[in-house]
Formats: sequence, structure tokens, C-alpha cells
Amino acid sequence: AETLALVDEVLTRRAAEPGALLPILHELQDALGFIPADVVPRIAEALNLSRAEVHGVITYYHHFRSQPAAGRVLQICRAESCKAMGADDLIAHAEHKLGCAMHGHSIDGAYTLEPVYCLGLCASSPALMLGDELHGRMTPQRLDALLAQEAQ
Ligand code: FES
Repeated sequence: AETLALVDEVLTRRAAEPGALLPILHELQDALGFIPADVVPRIAEALNLSRAEVHGVITYYHHFRSQPAAGRVLQICRAESCKAMGADDLIAHAEHKLGCAMHGHSIDGAYTLEPVYCLGLCASSPALMLGDELHGRMTPQRLDALLAQEAQ
């Protein structure tokens, strides 16, 4: 019920804004950690969109989650600058290390691995964000050290 009250509050406040869908989804995900499936019909109704349209936007933007993240979120940048500096290797390493693919949960449930498209740290590519901390000039070795430090 709390969730729905929050959703209704956000919808009432923003539904009339032009292009309201994305800001609304961002605000809901920031507040709830993900966009629960049962709020999709409410959002659709408030914005005069079909459920399929709202669902389509949620799945199109990698940023949005339909399920709560497990543990800490590890986001690795795979936009251009980071890609040029070895993001693919870093991602392969993280997938191997955590035992899951992108969008998955690590075997121990401690991490959710997600792609992200530019963290604004292009000058220090490749970049990642662990929880809400940004880290640049990442290497597989530095990632291992970071994860080992977290585990303590
Ligand atoms: Fe990765 Fe900008 S491209 S931080």
C-alpha cells in the first residue's frame, strides 16, 4: 500500500509534464529500487499510454529494473570510450568472477551485475560504479581487489 501511495503521489505530481514517462520511471526506481510489474497499469492509465508501451520503455532502457537488485549493484560502463579502453574484457572478467551474465545476480547473491552507458568518467575509462561509488581506470586486477575489499 505504501508503494501504491508513493506511485500515486509521483503520478499526480508529474503526469501532466511533457515527456513525463522517463522522469516518472526514474523517480520510482530511485525510491523503490525497481519498477514493480503491478504499477505498470497505473502508470499507463495516468499517462494515457498502453501497458505495452510502458513495459516497452522499461525493458528498452537498461537502467530500469523490473525486479529488485540482489545485494550491491555493480554497473560496468560499456559506452564508447570505455569500450575502447577494454570494457569488454572487464565485463567478461566480472561475469566470470561473479558467476553470472549481465543483468544477473552473482552466485552468492551479493551482487547484481548491470551494464551502464556512460558514467561521465570517460577521461578515466574504463569506469564502473559499485553501489554509489564511481571507480575509473579499472582493470580486472583492480576489480578483484575492490570485490575482495567489499567482502571483508
Ligand atoms: Fe564509460 Fe563515459 S564511456 S564513462
